[in-house]
Amino acid sequence: MIALGCDHAGFELKQEIIQYLEEKGYAYQDYGCFSTESVDYPDFAHAVAKAVASHEAEQGILICGTGIGISIAANKVKGIRCAHCHDVFSAEATRQHNDANILAMGARVIGAGLALKIVETFLTTPFSEDPRHIRRIEKIEAV
Ligand code: RB5
Repeated sequence: MIALGCDHAGFELKQEIIQYLEEKGYAYQDYGCFSTESVDYPDFAHAVAKAVASHEAEQGILICGTGIGISIAANKVKGIRCAHCHDVFSAEATRQHNDANILAMGARVIGAGLALKIVETFLTTPFSEDPRHIRRIEKIEAV
C-alpha cells in the first residue's frame, strides 16, 4: 500500500497522482489534506511517515509547494528516508542507493507530467541490496 499526503499547495498534484495509481492498480491510502484550504504540512508529513515507519504502508508520497517542508518533517520520524526529488535520475538513484521509503515533491516547482514519471520511477526501482549502501543506511539510523 502507498501512503499519500499533501498540504493545500500539493492537493491538486496529489489528485493527479491518485488517478495514476488507480490506473496502474496500486493500492493506496490518502492521509489528506482533502482540499486547497490552508493547512500545516507537518501534520500530513507525520501521518504518512508514521504509516510507513510502522509498515502499515510500504512506501509514501508527500507533496507540498516546494517539497522541502514536508520532506524535512517526514525525516524527523525514525526509520524514514524521505527523498526530495524533482528529476527522474534522483528518484532512481535514491531507491537504488538510499532505499528511500518516501518520495517528496513540490507542486509549485514541477508539472504533473514530470511528477508522474518521477512517481513511476520511484515505485518501480528496487533497492540495490549492495552491502556498501546497506552499511551507509545503517549509519544514518545509528546517530
Ligand atoms: C505553503 O504555502 C508552503 O509553505 C508549503 O507548501 C511548502 O512549500 C513548505 O515547504
